[in-house]
Amino acid sequence: MKARKPFVGGNWKMNTTLASAAELVRGISDALSRVGAVDIAVFPPFPYLVAIGGILRDRHGRVRLGAQNVYHEPEGAFTGEVSMHMLQDCGVQMVLVGHSERRHVMGETDKLINQKVKAVLASGMECVLCVGETLEQREAGHANQVNERQVRAALSQVPEDHVPRLTIAYEPVWAIGTGHTATPEDAQDAHAKIRGVIEDLYGPRSAQPLRIIYGGSVKAANARSLFDQPDIDGGLIGGASLKIAEFVSIVRSAADAATQGE
Ligand code: PGA
Repeated sequence: MKARKPFVGGNWKMNTTLASAAELVRGISDALSRVGAVDIAVFPPFPYLVAIGGILRDRHGRVRLGAQNVYHEPEGAFTGEVSMHMLQDCGVQMVLVGHSERRHVMGETDKLINQKVKAVLASGMECVLCVGETLEQREAGHANQVNERQVRAALSQVPEDHVPRLTIAYEPVWAIGTGHTATPEDAQDAHAKIRGVIEDLYGPRSAQPLRIIYGGSVKAANARSLFDQPDIDGGLIGGASLKIAEFVSIVRSAADAATQGE
């Protein structure tokens, strides 16, 4: 039995059509309706949130609804942005913040990510904070330093009583969408170090229950070996979350890892 209930999220990124998104979420929720021992969410593109949320509610909310991004200001002249309240209005329960594509393609800074994390947690929604080093940083031996800096910066001024709504996703940039997965041992090492940073910031009572999930080329074939590690509490799945059978199998691996030995 693992110490924490695992969480598996499907990050659809800028993929799917309205029709294919609906088909995907129906397939996933029907296949997983009886899989307990794991929390599940999908993160569809913004325009499909309401429709996908409706399908999930019709299926008793076994799979939760997440958003891929948010803007931290409550309202106003921020063309193209989406507020926390708008997401909540659409039935969103959790938000991804600091995904490497937001950091490296869209240029989001540690400061902006911190503003978003604070605002998401203050709104009462859950926040999945993504951190991870680039290949260059890993090869220079700086992976743990980079992760620590990103975690500390993102959580600056986040009060301890908001931490129960936080999940951290360790996603090494070189592993995302590349087919190169971190070895279970390297990922475990990074997760344990990140948990150490949380312990340093908030103490063991906050650090022990915190879920730290792994992302970066997770597939049905490698999921179980990752989820068997003591500090890997599930996964954030990109490409493989667009295929019903792959995603379902990954969620089942998390459930199996969580209940092993029972
Ligand atoms: P991937 O993406 O599974 O396609 O590597 C993971 C992510 O970016 O969250």
